[in-house]
Amino acid sequence: MKLTVGYLQLEPRPGDPEHNRRRIVELLSPHRADLIVLPELSTSGYCLESAEMRAVAEPANGPTAHLLEELARETGTHYVVGFPEFDGERLYNCIILVGPSGLLTKYRKIHLFGFEPEVFTPGDREPEPVDFKGTRLGLMICFDWIYPEVARILALRGATVLCHPSNLVLPHCPDAMITRCLENRVFAVTTNRVGEEDRRGESVRFTGMSQVVTPSGEVLGRAGDEEERVFITEIETEQAENKVVQGNDIFAMRRPRLYRRLCE
Ligand code: ACM
Repeated sequence: MKLTVGYLQLEPRPGDPEHNRRRIVELLSPHRADLIVLPELSTSGYCLESAEMRAVAEPANGPTAHLLEELARETGTHYVVGFPEFDGERLYNCIILVGPSGLLTKYRKIHLFGFEPEVFTPGDREPEPVDFKGTRLGLMICFDWIYPEVARILALRGATVLCHPSNLVLPHCPDAMITRCLENRVFAVTTNRVGEEDRRGESVRFTGMSQVVTPSGEVLGRAGDEEERVFITEIETEQAENKVVQGNDIFAMRRPRLYRRLCE
């Protein structure tokens, strides 16, 4: 299956979802693709205190989902986008897949980073791919990258494209995602943000370098570390269905009986 996929690398304004949603529509309206991935917490920014985050949070099927559904009807594009989700009781660091027919699925980040546990409740569901145009997408968020189990479970469950909205502050992830793609023979769209925010008097700088990676580890369209950017490319998802590397069927050759400690 040929798919056009890409990213919107964005600089959200902290605490100003109306501005950020307007900016998202402005940057995305000229572009058509099967799938565009936006950053983690695209509507809110990252360094908000708990009460500030709550003030800009929304239900999974709230204003951001509705706006992108409307945009999707014009562009024919599906979007993965991150925002703070409030379910009436708790706050989650959430991403959704939304298209012309509305909200298709959501994922709540299971590995919270740094101060995030002060703000968010972690998700507690096993990552589950979602059917999409004859293939399956795997949703993960930012720091989930450092737990290879997340990409592995998604790939074992049939995901061919990892959608990976991020707010990266460490430099290692774009290169590490090449390994996630090689070891699982999948594509990955990692979308980071750019810009700086202030947290309790300290500056936090986001590292950009959004990218698409192929199952053979090729990096397509890696962005710089400062600019907002839209990038779209064509991929062939069949490449991610074949797990044979130089005669080695890397999934069939796994030895899960020897990995039982991973479940402790
Ligand atoms: C992160 O998980 N946002 C670093």
